[in-house]
Amino acid sequence: MLSFAGKLVLAPMVRAGELPTRILAIRNGADLVWGPEIIDKKLIQCKRHVNEKLGCVDYLVDGTTSPVFRTCPQIEKGKIVFQIGTSTPSLAIQAALTVIQDVDGIDINAGCPKHFSIHSGMGAALLRTPDKLCEILCELVEKVGRPYGKTISVKIRLLDNREDTLQLINRLCQTGISHLTVHCRTTPMRNREQPIRGYIKEIYEVCQTNGVTLIINGGIKSRSHFQEIQRDLELPKEIGGMMADCAEQNPTVFLDSPIEWFDVVKQYVRIANDYDNNLGNTKYMISRIVPGKSKFYQFFARCKTFQEIEHVLGLLGPKGDPLGDPLPFIENCRQQEKLAK
Ligand code: FNR
Repeated sequence: MLSFAGKLVLAPMVRAGELPTRILAIRNGADLVWGPEIIDKKLIQCKRHVNEKLGCVDYLVDGTTSPVFRTCPQIEKGKIVFQIGTSTPSLAIQAALTVIQDVDGIDINAGCPKHFSIHSGMGAALLRTPDKLCEILCELVEKVGRPYGKTISVKIRLLDNREDTLQLINRLCQTGISHLTVHCRTTPMRNREQPIRGYIKEIYEVCQTNGVTLIINGGIKSRSHFQEIQRDLELPKEIGGMMADCAEQNPTVFLDSPIEWFDVVKQYVRIANDYDNNLGNTKYMISRIVPGKSKFYQFFARCKTFQEIEHVLGLLGPKGDPLGDPLPFIENCRQQEKLAK
């Protein structure tokens, strides 16, 4: 079983948390990585394929080629937590059983504030239906966690006040889960708002009494920033930290000294290429890693193929400065494209 105590981990992130980001994070100090939330009904449609060429396992909907979930056991085994979006115990179990042999833990998303999740009773809506949330977790513990020796966990947000939050956490801890992640903001709060960290120790005590590990999330900017928070709030070392926003911009943020963006983008593209990552997703991540003020932001935005991305990368100097102008090459690619039509 995974141990979460005191770990610094990559948050679940739709789009950003695909395999290349997770590999980059693991290679650069992340103790554990969460996959992006995948909805139960989507996962249930998938079949497992061993991808010999890449050394990966893919979960694919029949007749499609782009995997809903791809994992590389050689790198991720012992470190990968799979997050499910659900509001139905039976579907949650079915979804968890679909992937269980390739992941180390199953996590339930009970914190997403987006309309898409809430209106179908998933994400943060589960915080308002605690009976249902507890039923999902109890069933997962009994039918997936225990028989397969895997960790069952849940990621929540704070409720409007301390008492209600502690009461909810006490209930969740009694479902048999091994781990809890608390995003230290309430559901209406946005990521730019300062998290509420005033009663983390009390949350920890409830968890500890029930043998549940705790990771806090929200506004942690780096490993050193997490250590600062631990020191300032005198937090026990067993409480871990989870990073999203800053790890999306720089998946090496788990290191004591994170790598600069111009080297991060090179490493990222190499991994994305090696693991046949989808071009749209690769471009999305490049746009998160490359600062908007760099000329390269525009250069990469104009690329339409991996070959063009590689060409632009070749002109990225050792300090993020341009070694030449990639635009003529890109214009030429557009011309060739027109002629080929
Ligand atoms: C997220 N978040 C998120 N949370 C979750 O439980 N499942 C998910 O799939 C996602 N997807 C996602 C995508 C992106 C691009 C971002 C930035 C965030 C929320 C995330 O895990 C985290 O709880 C919040 O972002 C707060 O942490 P930070 O950003 O303050 O470190």
